Amino acid sequence: MNEENGRTFGRRTVLKAAGAAGLLLAGAPAWSAASSSRKRYAVVGVGSRARMFTRAITDKFSDNNEIVGICDRNAGRASLAVKTITATGKSAPLAFAASDFDRMIKETKPQYVIVTTTDASHDDYIVRALDAGCDVITEKPMTTTAEKAQRILDAVKRSGRHIRVTFNYRYSPPRSQIKDLLMSGEIGDVISVDFTWLLNTVHGADYFRRWHANKANSGGLMVHKATHHFDLVNWWLGAQPESVHAFGSRQFYTPETARRMGLSGPHERCLTCPEKQKCSFYFDLAADPGLKAIYLDNEKFDGYYRDRCVWRPDIDIEDTMNVMVRYDNGAHLNYALSAYDAWEGYHIAFNGTKGRLEHRIVESGGAAGAAKVQSGNENVSIRIIPIRGQARDIEPWTGKGSHGGGDDVMLTEIFGEAPPDKYKRVSDERAGAWSALVGIAANKCFATGQTVRIADLVTGLAPPDRAPMPDRSTPVPMPIRIKIP
Ligand SMILES: NC(=O)c1ccc[n+]([C@@H]2O[C@H](COP(=O)([O-])OP(=O)(O)OC[C@H]3O[C@@H](n4cnc5c(N)ncnc54)[C@H](O)[C@@H]3O)[C@@H](O)[C@H]2O)c1
Repeated sequence: MNEENGRTFGRRTVLKAAGAAGLLLAGAPAWSAASSSRKRYAVVGVGSRARMFTRAITDKFSDNNEIVGICDRNAGRASLAVKTITATGKSAPLAFAASDFDRMIKETKPQYVIVTTTDASHDDYIVRALDAGCDVITEKPMTTTAEKAQRILDAVKRSGRHIRVTFNYRYSPPRSQIKDLLMSGEIGDVISVDFTWLLNTVHGADYFRRWHANKANSGGLMVHKATHHFDLVNWWLGAQPESVHAFGSRQFYTPETARRMGLSGPHERCLTCPEKQKCSFYFDLAADPGLKAIYLDNEKFDGYYRDRCVWRPDIDIEDTMNVMVRYDNGAHLNYALSAYDAWEGYHIAFNGTKGRLEHRIVESGGAAGAAKVQSGNENVSIRIIPIRGQARDIEPWTGKGSHGGGDDVMLTEIFGEAPPDKYKRVSDERAGAWSALVGIAANKCFATGQTVRIADLVTGLAPPDRAPMPDRSTPVPMPIRIKIP
């Protein structure tokens, strides 16, 4: 079953799931609002990504933060989240069904709501949380359509509350370093950017198994995945995207490819696949205890399969996407994303008035087994080539942990004490909208073939707070003369 069509669970189901797990849930609070001076959080959507936030709150940042409410449309996952939190020795948060989200806010009184549901449902929880007087921390993409983006922008204005969109990619040390180099003016002001992002046949294929495979859930990879990349470019340039033209198609993850690879055709899911021995895209959900506990064991509550066949005809997202963006400062972006590549990572080049900055990362990880299909070792390179000058390689900044160490830096900023940030990496609804709208515009262009102006998609969207970038009116030194013998 498509997760969007999944049923929400009722209170009885929550308690039944909780009972099965031996838990104390809604109706029997272990937590009390009056007893704590910690910041209070409710989390909606407790699947895989939510764990980064719940772990941070219950572990490193537990002195000043606590989780008071859990909400999910899947009773089993809600129970699992409560069980995992209580196993750390912290007070049990109350668990609520999706239909009881407003009641959760009323009863548990969180100051912050963390939104980690599927992409297309973010807007609903963001708007309801803001209107209930909470601040919101939401995963990317902030949302998936222009109408939903408008609802969020309007709700921020109406409520006076705040949103934080967790663009963790900004915090990874080499990407912050790129911002630092661009701010330094060494390559002058940037006129054009060439950016290619590659997803390999393990991590890339995973998007075609999960809820992401349907645009109604994810906005497609143009929104779900590329929102990270468009946000990086918006932030790196310190500029706003103005107009977008794009081509997109699905050419690899198709029934035809399955047949060309010798299969009889697509099937429903890996678990029951009659050709699992023949298909190297077979994904064994039961093999990983973590994935099994989150998804397989909880299928009975909503019928969501995390291991659907990547060759299904009902997939409606693209695997091959090319986008051109013009920015309000005149810069051009040429961007490509594909999801069936021989290696995973990206390369980007910024062409400025004084030189060129090239940066490349070959990534590992990202999905179970992804490292096994890399074409080389994990590596990061940064090079500056002045116009008519000597190229120099720059030692990349490094970090530890998920997303190149970026997640940890961001979590400290959210839940702990962080020094003032000269790169202005914190992002609110404006950055969330500017990046999502590039993907939304690309989706529109896929359908109509017409160039899309971002200003035609929403109203009242201001530029975010930006770090100062090289001024376009600054004199540019004349390059050295080339001696032609
Ligand atoms: N920043 C990053 O690097 C990063 C990485 C992974 C995921 N994410 C984002 O995190 C979010 C969650 O992704 P995930 O990988 O954890 O997915 P997931 O499928 O593992 O978890 C989603 C959870 O939300 C629940 N849910 C779905 N719709 C709901 C609804 N309407 N109401 C209540 N609960 C609902 C599901 O039951 C599930 O428990 C997505 O927005 C995704 O884009 C961000």
